[in-house]
Amino acid sequence: MPRFNPILDQLPAYPFVELDRRKAALKAAGRPVFDFSKGDPVEPTPEFIREAMVAAVEPSCPYPAVAGGDDVRHAISEYLARRFGVEVDPHRGILPTAGSKEAVFHAPLLVIDPQADDKLVIFPDPGYPAYERGALFAGGEPYAAPLSGDHVFRPWLLPEAVLRRARMMWINSPHNPSGAVTGLDDLKRTVALCQQYDILLMSDETYADIYTEGTEPPRSALEVSQEGVLALHSLSKRSGMTGYRSGFLAGDPALIRRNRELRANPGLVPQDFINAAAAVAWRDDAHVAERRQLFSAKKAVLLSLFREQGYEVIGESATIYLWLRVPVAGLSDADYAESLLEAGIVVSPGSMLGLTEAGRGWVRLAMVPSLSECAAAVAAWRSLL
Ligand SMILES: Cc1ncc(COP(=O)(O)O)c(C=O)c1O
Repeated sequence: MPRFNPILDQLPAYPFVELDRRKAALKAAGRPVFDFSKGDPVEPTPEFIREAMVAAVEPSCPYPAVAGGDDVRHAISEYLARRFGVEVDPHRGILPTAGSKEAVFHAPLLVIDPQADDKLVIFPDPGYPAYERGALFAGGEPYAAPLSGDHVFRPWLLPEAVLRRARMMWINSPHNPSGAVTGLDDLKRTVALCQQYDILLMSDETYADIYTEGTEPPRSALEVSQEGVLALHSLSKRSGMTGYRSGFLAGDPALIRRNRELRANPGLVPQDFINAAAAVAWRDDAHVAERRQLFSAKKAVLLSLFREQGYEVIGESATIYLWLRVPVAGLSDADYAESLLEAGIVVSPGSMLGLTEAGRGWVRLAMVPSLSECAAAVAAWRSLL
């Protein structure tokens, strides 16, 4: 028998593996399932994006370049200029990635020295699980900073000793799971802090384009500075392309150059036909506006119930999530999620999305079911009240 990496044994199953098991049990029992657990929306990928991918499948497909082709990098640079008003050099400041999850997971490999004392990777908690996992597998030390209240991450409140031992910090605005958005002033403070302590600032902006119409579009850390900063974006939610695995890193040319060298090792390279689809997706904003409206409409259906019941909820202004405080006194988030299963409603218990206590007492709903399913779910939810 081979001897395994001990980290694999120490980690609980990836959170969604457990949820998948629960959903399967409901389905096997022939029950209706309203699945708000995993962030994989059902709406089809726009046709022009699918066509661009198919048209780019050549008779022979050579190895793609780690740096990606010129066209996709220009499309991304144009997007960043249009959306955030920032100029990022398409040749030196942009690197396409195979989705953003792998980029999150592999990013610590760029800076972590497992032998060093300063090997902390700081990230908000609750948060996207790959921040912790990437830090661990790279030999770093994860530091989960608990969020509370408005769930905006304010890293300048962290102890000095923590900042001194940190090599990398994740921020995530709009934030999964809470939907909290960090304003430009707080981004400025965070960038300055990381520059002061020589911490690589990784700004996970994968939900930047999913905001409620009428609210201010979320800002990018790149609007503050590119020095020591990398922003991470994804087409998964913006363009309904979860299965394509397409995202990008953008920012400090020195960091992009080192990342190219690093990422040549495992061959983490989006295929040329995926980059062709990505190029047309980043160049178009109309389909994104449509998706924004749809997620907002789904949220409105659920919010009508939550408001009527006086439930405490955040995440109204951005992301595909609603973050709901368990409305029943004395019930844990896991028990509350379990009770919703009675009506076929699957949500993610907040304690599953956090390493500290910070996720406790909350559940996350991802706006994944269709609009009519959301309405049916609300009716089913009412039957439990
Ligand atoms: C905050 C955050 N970052 C990164 C990702 C990874 O997205 P993808 O790999 O689909 O681009 C997700 C996915 O849900 C996420 O919520």
